[in-house]
Amino acid sequence: MAMAVMRDKAAAEVFELSTGVHASAVVRAAVQLGLADAVGDEPVTLEALASAVGARQDTLGRFMRLLTAYGIFAEVGEDRYEHTPTSRALRSDAPDGPAGIIRLGGDWNWILWGLLAHSVRTGESAFQAHYGQDIFAYFDQNRQAGDAFQHGLSVVARREDPLVAEALPVKEGECVVELAGGKGNLLRAVLERHPGVTGVLVETEQALDTVDPALREGPLAERFRAFPGDCQTAVPGGGDVYLIKQTLHMWDDETCLRVLANCRRAAPPGARVVVVEQLLTDGPAERRTRLMDLHMLLVAGGRERTEKDFAELFHRAGLSFGGIRGEAGDLRLIEAVTPEA
Ligand SMILES: C[S@@+](CC[C@H](N)C(=O)[O-])C[C@H]1O[C@@H](n2cnc3c(N)ncnc32)[C@H](O)[C@@H]1O
Repeated sequence: MAMAVMRDKAAAEVFELSTGVHASAVVRAAVQLGLADAVGDEPVTLEALASAVGARQDTLGRFMRLLTAYGIFAEVGEDRYEHTPTSRALRSDAPDGPAGIIRLGGDWNWILWGLLAHSVRTGESAFQAHYGQDIFAYFDQNRQAGDAFQHGLSVVARREDPLVAEALPVKEGECVVELAGGKGNLLRAVLERHPGVTGVLVETEQALDTVDPALREGPLAERFRAFPGDCQTAVPGGGDVYLIKQTLHMWDDETCLRVLANCRRAAPPGARVVVVEQLLTDGPAERRTRLMDLHMLLVAGGRERTEKDFAELFHRAGLSFGGIRGEAGDLRLIEAVTPEA
């Protein structure tokens, strides 16, 4: 449309950026309709596809025409479609499971980005502004959204948790208390990687309802304990390592300080608090972390942090900063130590 008549390069670039929402909507709708799962190894007719996904044939035909323009499916003959590598990647059983990650951000996520200007202007979480409640309270009342969120996190976890478990500074015989560990994917990886270690998972009742069955039954069960609770209020004692992965970034500094101070109070002297997060750095190529920083503002009033931000948070919580103790892909293992008695 207007692009064609834009002679100014910067104007054309900024317009192009503003249309990014269309590509997101196209991919999201393809996942919502379940199109990739409805196409097998053989080409499929539009009629069969419309019937399989429960859509009107005429509008689905128009949507398929657009999808093929993005390289998602290819048209082979009139009104017959087959997979391309990109459409295959949207199948529920595809490697790395992008469809599960796309479903993680349900309708609620879509609405939040439309409120970005509000959050930038006010500092208020868009979620709170729109729904009048915290995201986890919302998940309590909307189980399907909560389950899709936890499922999406597990898909991501499958890739990164074994790396975190490998890098975790823990010794045989120690107890790892994981706060806000979702379905327990990371704790499972830790127990599998370190056979002499025991684990406690502190989570909401809802997340514990769908905890990884491998932690409840089988050989890991005797080294695992679930602790339903609110880590902003209290955390269990007796841990040698308090592990918190990709959760502090959801919270503002005051909330993080409450959780870290709970660890300091509950843990024995010299225990480690290991925070696993991606770090904000000054590099110009850090668009992903900078996006995530604003995403956290929208979702829960949180933020991404630099190494220096973490050192300051630990100091304010009465912990000493132990430095970066390891890495797992983009994630860093940032350590704090509880004071000696
Ligand atoms: C962003 S998810 C991270 C989950 C997991 N650590 C991961 O890396 O996949 C945040 C988790 O915090 C849990 N959570 C939120 N508030 C909590 C609280 N007050 N106490 C304990 N867990 C909480 C949620 O249920 C959710 O699983």
